[in-house]
Amino acid sequence: MFQESSSPGATIKSVRELKAMRSAGKVVAMMHEALRKATRPGVTTGELDRVARVVLKENGAQPSFLNYEPVPGITPYPGVICTSLNEEIVHGIPGKRVIQDGDLVKLDVGAVVDGFHGDAAVSLIAGEGSETTKTLVDVTRRSLEIGIAAAQPGNRIGDIGAAIEDYVLPLGFELVREYTGHGIGRRLHEPPQVPNFRQGGRGIVLKPGMTIAIEPMVNAGGWDTRVMDDDWTVVTDDGALSAHFEHTIAITESGPEILTILGS
Ligand code: MF3
Ligand code: CO
Repeated sequence: MFQESSSPGATIKSVRELKAMRSAGKVVAMMHEALRKATRPGVTTGELDRVARVVLKENGAQPSFLNYEPVPGITPYPGVICTSLNEEIVHGIPGKRVIQDGDLVKLDVGAVVDGFHGDAAVSLIAGEGSETTKTLVDVTRRSLEIGIAAAQPGNRIGDIGAAIEDYVLPLGFELVREYTGHGIGRRLHEPPQVPNFRQGGRGIVLKPGMTIAIEPMVNAGGWDTRVMDDDWTVVTDDGALSAHFEHTIAITESGPEILTILGS
């Protein structure tokens, strides 16, 4: 998401609201499953967007990202999903671009069910990727797992980023700092911000019923970012590769529950 000036606490969801969050998360997971099968060299990013649209429709869900307008005056987001390739970090717009062998493809997907949002992202390699690409993807996937494991009730929001940072930086990769995870619920982006790195304070205490999206973005080069002329696509300033994984989770009495998976 986008940096906001203040970041108060997340709302506590009722059992009924958590149920809707689970349903939205399930649709997001189904979209990801269809997208994983469809992603290969020769396919356009626009075709992937259409695959996601079909799954949304089949499940009676609404797109979460389409026409999203974070601040008035910005071009509303024109896609159902975000497709970001190689040095593109997040918010790439689906279109005519053809996926090439070895491309690092980031798919960020959202859905709304009964007024509640789900949001999740993966990084896939189309065809045969380089060793560097594979390592970057593995490290980023693991960094999300580590971030989720830190999202225990009684811990603080800052413990998530601290755990991610302690894992990623010693491996020689950098973490994006200008975009963060976020609270999520009736809106796609709610307080608090969920940074993927250590900050001054540890932030709010995590309580059962809070729902947040954790989304580390890991760069093979430096952490600086730039936004392209389309107003949306965020790229690494130095053109190095970037990977991204994201899940929407609920804090429960017994620990974090991942909502954006198919589950039982
Ligand atoms: N997971 C992305 C985020 O939280 C979803 C962005 S949707 C967009 O930033 F519409 F803003 F592109
Ligand atoms: Co998000």
